[in-house]
Amino acid sequence: MSYVLIIGAKSDIAKEIARTYAKNGYNLYLCARSSSDLSELKTDIEVRSAVNVQILDFDITAYDTHKSFYEQLSEKPLGVIIVSGYMTEQKIAQKNWGECLNTINVNYTGAVSILNIISNDFEKERRGFIVGISSVAGDRGRKANYIYGSAKAAFSSYLSGLRNRLFKSGVSVLTVKPGFVATKMTQKLHLPERLTAEPIDVAEDIYKAQQAGKNILYTKSIWFLIMLIIKNIPEFIFKKLSI
Ligand SMILES: NC(=O)c1ccc[n+]([C@@H]2O[C@H](COP(=O)([O-])OP(=O)(O)OC[C@H]3O[C@@H](n4cnc5c(N)ncnc54)[C@H](OP(=O)(O)O)[C@@H]3O)[C@@H](O)[C@H]2O)c1
Repeated sequence: MSYVLIIGAKSDIAKEIARTYAKNGYNLYLCARSSSDLSELKTDIEVRSAVNVQILDFDITAYDTHKSFYEQLSEKPLGVIIVSGYMTEQKIAQKNWGECLNTINVNYTGAVSILNIISNDFEKERRGFIVGISSVAGDRGRKANYIYGSAKAAFSSYLSGLRNRLFKSGVSVLTVKPGFVATKMTQKLHLPERLTAEPIDVAEDIYKAQQAGKNILYTKSIWFLIMLIIKNIPEFIFKKLSI
């Protein structure tokens, strides 16, 4: 069976995505910084699903390494899923340039760097799928998280263009827009239970949407409606709100 390449594989959502694709027979490249931390997950998945799992070191901000990283893969993947992301508190990001830049680079620049390389290969081969985890935060800039949100907005826009370009080559591109998900990233936040998804549910939604060739996925689906309302608030009202 073909390989799926998962970037940011230590994320709680990525681990569930890995289990879901393995359950459905896909081999995996699990890519992360200090990837040896993923050895237990690799063994667990291999035992449960009888697939081949390779763990690989990968830093999405080490742009110079991306080409050789992709070229050295023994078998090119059928699909790539970009899960890596970085979010610090907005108040920190707006005062500390290093934090601000890392937010932009992990969520946007790094993803563009590796996807430019992979998409050129997929286009040439006329096959493959690309999944990018963006966020509802990219749908409209809010004072509470507009640095992270603007990086995700740029990523969503990149994926939209990529989907448009690759359509004729038969390569599908899925943009995933999660609302709240209970993970390490959000553990310090007080999230409303009914609007918060579990990583396993997000993973299953992603698998189904990718297999069905969908373009954009809101997970939980209620976030489509919430963001539709938020996007349609007139700017002269929106600028006064604290949401
Ligand atoms: N949780 C939510 O409510 C939510 C909502 C909307 C969208 N999202 C998006 O969903 C994705 C997964 O997030 P999560 O909630 O599962 O958070 P998470 O557990 O914090 O995962 C983020 C992952 O990104 C990796 N990462 C950070 N910098 C990296 C770099 N330079 N190179 C490679 N990997 C790097 C982290 O690796 P380390 O483990 O090595 O630090 C971490 O495993 C992210 O793109 C996030 O923005 C999350």
